[in-house]
Amino acid sequence: MSAEPLLRIENLVKHFHVRLGAFGEKAATVYALDDVSLDIEEGETLSLVGESGCGKSTTGFTILNLHRASGGKVIYKGQDLTRLDEKHMRPFRRDLQIVFQDPYSTLNPRMTVGEAVGEPILFHKLATKAELKERIATLLSDVGLPARFASRYPHELSGGQRQRVVIARALACQPKFIVCDEAISALDVSIQAQIINLLLDLQEKYRLTYLFIAHDLAVVQHISTRVGVMYLGRLAELAPRDALFQTPLHPYTRALLSAVPETDPERERNRKRQILQGDVPSPLNPPSGCRFHTRCPIAMEVCSKVVPEWKAARPGHLVACHAVNSGLS
Ligand SMILES: Nc1ncnc2c1ncn2[C@@H]1O[C@H](COP(=O)(O)OP(=O)(O)O)[C@@H](O)[C@H]1O
Ligand code: SF4
Ligand SMILES: [Mg+2]
Repeated sequence: MSAEPLLRIENLVKHFHVRLGAFGEKAATVYALDDVSLDIEEGETLSLVGESGCGKSTTGFTILNLHRASGGKVIYKGQDLTRLDEKHMRPFRRDLQIVFQDPYSTLNPRMTVGEAVGEPILFHKLATKAELKERIATLLSDVGLPARFASRYPHELSGGQRQRVVIARALACQPKFIVCDEAISALDVSIQAQIINLLLDLQEKYRLTYLFIAHDLAVVQHISTRVGVMYLGRLAELAPRDALFQTPLHPYTRALLSAVPETDPERERNRKRQILQGDVPSPLNPPSGCRFHTRCPIAMEVCSKVVPEWKAARPGHLVACHAVNSGLS
């Protein structure tokens, strides 16, 4: 890992101000992301996992300044991106891309594949019109599509092919960092494996860094360098992949992992599934102290009163839990 992280996220906060009630008469705040700090190292795949609504997409969007942060910093190339308006973000937009679950939301149905892939190149003036055709052909080849696909429309493609086009479009400006937000979740399982392999090949070829948002823990275990576990807008645990899967420290991570079937039949027979009691509380009114205390099987008195510190239990293994001692102090 390099000395300086590619991105440094410090105490990032995102609150959405919403209106509730039949007539929108009641103002409320969604505490979607609270005090999230992490470094993203160049060339790594950092995955974010956690139940639906825990703030994974909000983290990705706020890092990319597609949502305005309510607090905290995102440091990239010495700049705090959260302070930049769209005009000043433009030079950074090239480097920082996102791929969504649904390629239909990214691809304009009236644009050919070639136009879709070429658009960001022309926008950022990275090629002349004469060079464009060749550049598009290279990008399509990079994602495993023949050059003749340039004249096709999204509806003429399969789901997997469409996602390849979306990836080619994300690659068009030679980015450094790509948020893959459930990028494979909507695809058939056999196609998922192909797209994962494609992402891994492209990462190696272009030294890409991924923030990989997913709910399939088997996929996360396969592709990640490190894994972050989120619960109700906060990071519960962050560790190198093997440390997280083999020695999870946070009670929520343990419960989450206990739901993953083991490939070894003997271990699968002995697997103890830990079912969490109750539902995830509302982010409109998150529990005090540790947000997990209403469902935690080992909650103590302090847990409802004091927010657990985000600390290293072992080098590189961070956790927010009163029951876990800091191994470094
Ligand atoms: N634009 C928005 N306006 C209001 N609330 C939002 C908005 N986007 C997300 N949220 C809320 O923020 C919380 C986190 O959402 P999200 O980041 O999409 O979760 P995840 O990606 O982990 O499923 C959820 O409660 C969601 O309803
Ligand atoms: S801080 Fe307390 S409630 Fe939260 S996970 Fe740790 S033991 Fe459970
Ligand atoms: Mg999401």
